[in-house]
Amino acid sequence: MSEADIQPAAQAVAFEVPRHVAIIMDGNGRWASARGLPRVEGHRRGVEALRRTIRAAGEIGIQVITIFSFSAENWSRPPSEVHELMSLLRRFIRNDLAELHKSNVRVRIVGEREGLEPDIGRLLSEAEELTRANTGLTLVVAFNYGARQEIARAARRIAAEVERGTLHAADITTETVGRFLDAPDLPDPDLIIRTSGEQRLSNFLLWQSAYSELVFVPTYWPDFDRAALEAAIREYQQRERRFGGLVAKTGS
Ligand code: IPE
Ligand code: IPE
Ligand code: MG
Repeated sequence: MSEADIQPAAQAVAFEVPRHVAIIMDGNGRWASARGLPRVEGHRRGVEALRRTIRAAGEIGIQVITIFSFSAENWSRPPSEVHELMSLLRRFIRNDLAELHKSNVRVRIVGEREGLEPDIGRLLSEAEELTRANTGLTLVVAFNYGARQEIARAARRIAAEVERGTLHAADITTETVGRFLDAPDLPDPDLIIRTSGEQRLSNFLLWQSAYSELVFVPTYWPDFDRAALEAAIREYQQRERRFGGLVAKTGS
């Protein structure tokens, strides 16, 4: 393959909008502390940033946006903060679901549903049911989500099939594992953004991020907006995705 062969593909990257963007919405507490406000105020303002970001994602032409809204490990926070985060999720679904539906957004939920408060479980199911047939932006809410837990769930589902005799252990491939994850039909994220300056995945999409581009931005989540999203996408567009090969590839 000559240099000339590689050029056009690399150039095409510059105009590529990532199909799937996943966001670790971090820094709500620090945003509030920096202003002498209680952490909960940061979470409230974080919901506003989320609304802006969903709108911008649709306008930019992103097909799937996944947001990390509550991790399996976040239960270790003080009960009052956990309670507030649950209330914010309830309020977000109650206030915004109709609008999301009107905007043709399809809502999906990933994470452990067992053990949640029953009304929260119902709200999550209602959001998925109502928007099931929508054809616009797919909004994936990672709630009570941990990637290792998701992979363990997949392993249990695979083991159950093997026990039933519907699957042979020798036939299990990476594609099989992918099929048993929480949202098997969705493409892997092309771009994962983490706000607040932290540079780690914190148990988010460990399987799906194998070839994702990672962009870490210093902005605290409540300050995130369309310009910040576009800046992260521009950084993504500078990257050369190789997937283990040699030729620059655009998207997955
Ligand atoms: C992200 O902000 C929201 C959740 C994890 C639920 P944080 O609450 O983690 O804010 P910092 O990281 O403490 O600033
Ligand atoms: C990751 O942020 C979880 C969410 C954004 C929901 P954390 O704030 O919980 O992550 P750590 O504890 O800093 O790794
Ligand atoms: Mg944090």
